Amino acid sequence: MSDREPDSAADGSQVARKRIVVGVGGGIAAYKSCALVRSFTESGHSVRVIPTEAALQFVGRATFEALSGNPVQTGVFADVPEVAHVRLGQEADLVVIAPATADLMARAVAGRADDLLTATLLTARCPVVFAPAMHTEMWEHAATVWNVATLRERGSIVIEPASGRLTGKDTGAGRMPEPEEIFTLASLLLERPAALPRDLEGRRIVVSAGGTREPLDPVRFLGNRSSGKQGYAIARLAAQRGAQVTLVAGATAELGDPAAVDVVHVRTAEQMREAVMKHVIDADAVIMSAAVADFRPATVATSKIKKGADEPDTIPLVRNEDILAGLVQARRDGTIAPSTAIVGFAAETGDATGGVLDHARTKLARKGCDLLVVNAVGDGKAFEVDHNDGWLLGADGTESAIEPGSKSLMASRVLDAVAGLMVFE
Ligand SMILES: Cc1cc2nc3c(=O)[nH]c(=O)nc-3n(C[C@H](O)[C@H](O)[C@H](O)COP(=O)(O)O)c2cc1C
Repeated sequence: MSDREPDSAADGSQVARKRIVVGVGGGIAAYKSCALVRSFTESGHSVRVIPTEAALQFVGRATFEALSGNPVQTGVFADVPEVAHVRLGQEADLVVIAPATADLMARAVAGRADDLLTATLLTARCPVVFAPAMHTEMWEHAATVWNVATLRERGSIVIEPASGRLTGKDTGAGRMPEPEEIFTLASLLLERPAALPRDLEGRRIVVSAGGTREPLDPVRFLGNRSSGKQGYAIARLAAQRGAQVTLVAGATAELGDPAAVDVVHVRTAEQMREAVMKHVIDADAVIMSAAVADFRPATVATSKIKKGADEPDTIPLVRNEDILAGLVQARRDGTIAPSTAIVGFAAETGDATGGVLDHARTKLARKGCDLLVVNAVGDGKAFEVDHNDGWLLGADGTESAIEPGSKSLMASRVLDAVAGLMVFE
């Protein structure tokens, strides 16, 4: 079988088989690269792992060979008749270095080619992703800062690391994002190679995601089916495009916090409104992808409502404040800057009175936001799944369809439109 033919992923779906090089630097996070390799092979891709000699201090060659199903070498003098030191880079569709150590990035910047991985970096013409992992002091050192900036200037993608537990008892910025997150970003680049420009540096963006839960008593709530995946994808990508992002997260499908994003966890619509209103001050854009309950129970019982004589026949509801309308009003009042871009989401179904887009256009006019992201829901679409499609409706009358793809792809289209809305001095 040719490497370019479709292949079956572990879930049975057909994928275009790509050639992926996973480079592994000599850091403690090398163990996480095993999960990354597995995600690529399970998705049906052909994977070559190229560790450095130092990486093999952390994970054995046999592990990488077994997970990738391919031989593993570290030096330029292995596999000489096949000229592996140039061929692997030339043929790759994507190179992902995880972990990228301080030393490995310095060697990449210097253009060294004294092992198979750095030689591969010099010959690769496909997207190259570095996922740095190191102690905070190393990450913040002027040499590393310069190396990261240089790699980005040359067109490589250097993923923002997460903050959190480092080796030993230390915590701080420099932690490698979880393999699943690196896989998500890398997969997006296979869908859309130009999806991660650094065009949002210096921007502050607030994103809401997930569903709200309106309590009825200590054990019951009114909720909805939003998984939060679309909003998390937007927050993750905005941070990786350089923005300072606050994610106001309601109930989700147990999603991990995206790397380099400040996450504020809330439960109810009122908590979400308060958090959004607090963080939107000074923001350049606010993207309301959360599924916020329109109503909440008028009273919350302090103890569980029991079956029997006291059981209510009906549950009175009261309307929650509309956060999107509140944001538009706050911009009119001057509570938030007039330049703040406001983006709403509409999950619509067609009915006897009109199609999805008809309802969405009415909603855009009613809400007064700058951009409405429209999803057709129902029939297994949009909620809980990993793919999406839809439309972008602008207040200026522009309309564009977003092609079907991953929620990351949709996030990248939304952020392109948001970048166009923000005022750049
Ligand atoms: C236990 C241990 C953990 C290490 N973890 C890291 C790390 O997370 N990040 C880093 O940049 N260097 C780390 N280092 C230092 C690198 O191993 C060292 O700089 C090495 O030369 C990197 O080689 P490379 O260029 O092949 O990645 C660690 C060293 C040791 C002994």
